[in-house]
Amino acid sequence: MNFKNIPKHIAIIMDGNGRWAKKRNLHRIQGHVEGIKSLKAVVKAIIEYKIKYLTVYAFSSENWSRPPEEVDSLMSLLSEYIRIELPYLIKNEIRLNFIGNIDKIPENSKKSLLEAVNKTKNFERLRLTLALSYGSKEEILNAASKIAEDFKKNKIDIEEGAGISGELFSSYLYTAGMPEPDFLIRTSGEKRLSNFMLYQIAYTEIYFTGTLWPDFRRKNLNAALKNYEKRIRRFGKTEV
Ligand code: IPE
Ligand code: IPE
Ligand code: MG
Repeated sequence: MNFKNIPKHIAIIMDGNGRWAKKRNLHRIQGHVEGIKSLKAVVKAIIEYKIKYLTVYAFSSENWSRPPEEVDSLMSLLSEYIRIELPYLIKNEIRLNFIGNIDKIPENSKKSLLEAVNKTKNFERLRLTLALSYGSKEEILNAASKIAEDFKKNKIDIEEGAGISGELFSSYLYTAGMPEPDFLIRTSGEKRLSNFMLYQIAYTEIYFTGTLWPDFRRKNLNAALKNYEKRIRRFGKTEV
């Protein structure tokens, strides 16, 4: 596939696994299992298209309130995904990382995650970021608290009147060092952000599709990217 202009950073809210399963009289977890196949297909296409950053919302800070069986299954799926995919990530020079507060993630899942992050840290072909136990409000509050602490400890200087710069603030977010997303895709027909990257998507192009995440494969990604091609990003300026 050839695209006239392609985003450098794509973020995806992978939603609709439960509904996909329900439609087929399957257990919700089957929807999550099928959703992993979509993630694999999308990662594969994204490497081919030479997109440098992919950030996927895998588990929100609010998702901890789901029934414990579902949370447990999602956590097991996470470590399984990482274990199975690690050789693929290494072979394809994909750097895995995560954003979110992983304190609550069970030890074994956390261990495989951190191991994979460490083993892939020098790769630059694609940065695949998993948003795990991620909440944007928490991220912003955490950044503000850390800035206040560092200021008190004289680790940073904030000039009176100038305030905190966007650059400084961004460096305290989980996404420090990453460019902001150019394109955000949400599947399943919901038109909301569900506490995802609220600060980072100020000027991101947004694409909502009714396709459920387990049905979202390469052809759906292509359709989304074709739609992105037509977008005119003005950033507040007049059109040139
Ligand atoms: C997205 O699918 C995956 C997670 C939030 C972990 P859902 O599980 O939210 O599926 P629906 O929205 O209930 O269909
Ligand atoms: C958002 O989906 C989180 C993820 C996709 C991981 P949810 O299914 O949790 O969002 P709501 O509850 O419908 O807003
Ligand atoms: Mg959902």
